Amino acid sequence: MPIASRRSHQTVQPQGHELMGLPNNDSRHRNSRALFERAERVIPGGIYGHQTPQMLTRDRFPFFLADAEGCRIRDVDGNEYIDFLCGFGPVVLGYRHAKVEEAAERQRRQCDTMNLPAPVMVELAERLVSVTPGAAWSVFAKNGGDVTTWALAVAREATGRDLVAMVDHTYHGTAGWCNPFGNGFPDGERAGMRAFQWNDAASLRALIDREGASIAAVIVTPFRHEAFEDSQLPANEFLSDVRRICDENGSVMIVDDVRAGFRIDIGGSTQRWGVTPDLLVYSKALANGYPLSAMIGADALRDAARAVFVTGTTFTQAVPIAAALATLEELERTDGIAHMDRMGRRLCDGLLERATAVGVEVRLSGPPSIPYMSFVDDESDFARSKLWAGACADAGAFFHPLHNWFISVAHAETDIDEALDAAERGFSDVRAAF
Ligand SMILES: Cc1ncc(COP(=O)(O)O)c(C=O)c1O
Repeated sequence: MPIASRRSHQTVQPQGHELMGLPNNDSRHRNSRALFERAERVIPGGIYGHQTPQMLTRDRFPFFLADAEGCRIRDVDGNEYIDFLCGFGPVVLGYRHAKVEEAAERQRRQCDTMNLPAPVMVELAERLVSVTPGAAWSVFAKNGGDVTTWALAVAREATGRDLVAMVDHTYHGTAGWCNPFGNGFPDGERAGMRAFQWNDAASLRALIDREGASIAAVIVTPFRHEAFEDSQLPANEFLSDVRRICDENGSVMIVDDVRAGFRIDIGGSTQRWGVTPDLLVYSKALANGYPLSAMIGADALRDAARAVFVTGTTFTQAVPIAAALATLEELERTDGIAHMDRMGRRLCDGLLERATAVGVEVRLSGPPSIPYMSFVDDESDFARSKLWAGACADAGAFFHPLHNWFISVAHAETDIDEALDAAERGFSDVRAAF
């Protein structure tokens, strides 16, 4: 059976107007609120997608940010926060990183979008191929969703098969085949998708037994990192089982490293678990916030990649590509991944310790550089998470209540410790309220 649309029970689509007309107790965010009222008149929902205020704690978070540097952000009312979202991932070195900005500016002075690509495109493809085990080529686009969708097309072209297996309820972007809500997309767009379960190779094996001859590809993320739920690392053999099943069945293994990429292993996150995919897709952290995504592939898929026609007006824009080259260089030079791991561990250990001292129970999950925290006693309304994150925002630390966080190379021990003080105040508020 194809994966069913979730249109009938869609619940958390952005509905900005629900926020208006509420008593405004939020004197810290007057400018944010005024801007949001203007936005609502000219932008459906005011702010849409993953940045919707509906995902944050009502009256405790700003709606708009004015500027940012390192790991600090400032909203349009002048409130400052230590940031643990990094623009939802892209800002891996810290906001406005000097070396990245210099490289981008140098390229901008030459040109950005032109009739033909700039030399930096070749340089970046060479660099990615050289740091990625099993890789022979790379192509570029703008968003993660561009390259997850492109990867499916390359796999179908290479195998002559139509179906793709994905882990049930996994976010791969907003295209019709994977849109988490389904509104506006006919069910037929999912007709080529089949579901199996995370960390359950037997469920993939069963799917292959039924429909293997039609399965072009299996797409997985390196670890399970869905919003609203604890993250799950791959069980011991899960990723290598997926690899083996793909090989036995002649299916392409695609790793969607859009969210985790460059925070776990420079050669692709599944290298941490000893697994090399056939196609690897990146976006977010690739260019420290400049718009860029990449698909990197094995030599055997080169002809299929050439045969599939995909392009976009700004796909070969040179400034983001120059920024990506500088980002990779700096990540390697500073051993940035190890630093983020250390800072993430300090944060996670500190949160557990402070929560326990105050008397509330929390669970930390995911890799330390991309952590997620939940409250053991929370029901599905996430009341404790929302109260805690709101209190942290008041105290100057920006933690998302429902989505995983991101550490950057700009986070220092002192930033983590300062944020832990804010977190402790949040834990005390939770303890007092429940
Ligand atoms: C795992 C994963 N895949 C794909 C996407 C889609 O990326 P984009 O929003 O850049 O299209 C995301 C975005 O969060 C993601 O986390």
